[in-house]
Amino acid sequence: MSLPIRIQVFPDAGGLTHHAARTLREACARNAEGRVAVALSGGATPALLYRRLAEDYLHEIPWGRLEVFFGDERAVSPHHADSNYGLALRELLSRVPIPMEQVHRMPAGESDLELAAQCYEEEVQRLVPPGPLGDPAFDLVWLGVGEDGHTASLFPGTATLSSTESLVVANDVPRLGTRRMTFTFTLINAARRVQFLVLGREKAAIVERVLGPPRDGAPSELLPAGRVRPPHGTLEWLLDREAAAGIVDPGLIA
Ligand code: 6PG
Repeated sequence: MSLPIRIQVFPDAGGLTHHAARTLREACARNAEGRVAVALSGGATPALLYRRLAEDYLHEIPWGRLEVFFGDERAVSPHHADSNYGLALRELLSRVPIPMEQVHRMPAGESDLELAAQCYEEEVQRLVPPGPLGDPAFDLVWLGVGEDGHTASLFPGTATLSSTESLVVANDVPRLGTRRMTFTFTLINAARRVQFLVLGREKAAIVERVLGPPRDGAPSELLPAGRVRPPHGTLEWLLDREAAAGIVDPGLIA
């Protein structure tokens, strides 16, 4: 039985990114001596969080104890404009004292994407201790959500939605005409804490579909983002006022 979903609405991105940064600080404090395993989200939204971490939490996070992974990656080189790793490197990882051997880039630009995904899965299994389900349990997984309800690179209608045995897979995304590498639900839902970071009016409709009351009987679980429900972990949706417009009366947001 999953824990209830926590929904937090912030007037703007500032409050949201501070809350997310403090979540990482808390995860480090909870795991006082050991390594802290965190998976970074893809897309553009995390850039604001990365800058917040680098500029306001430089001395508050024990960077030398982090093992940083990526929840998904595009099939591009690390320095391509679309690379999730490239964004994190520019905005965060090059600005904080984390040993680069503790930054685990997802090699989604490899020609044999299946083999690369298997190798990344083995790296996760080697470095992230198992949780109650026996799978590697990240201390914190950050995710975004697309307007079609995808999260990480788990897109509606793609084969990986049913991958339960694997932890990291290659995924064909016909709608984008591309390939991706991504965590599966099995790995995401093994996490101790999962946080969705969602900003902007263009996300209000999908937030309502995932978090609002089921429409015409269609449960939100049909949407990939709706299938993120860690049974032994906490799930939080961090929304700004605009992204929450479909589920909360804006007048109620301070
Ligand atoms: C990716 C992501 C994807 C992203 C959402 C939201 O690599 O594209 O992992 O799931 O989080 O598409 O993206 P934005 O933050 O750019 O809206």
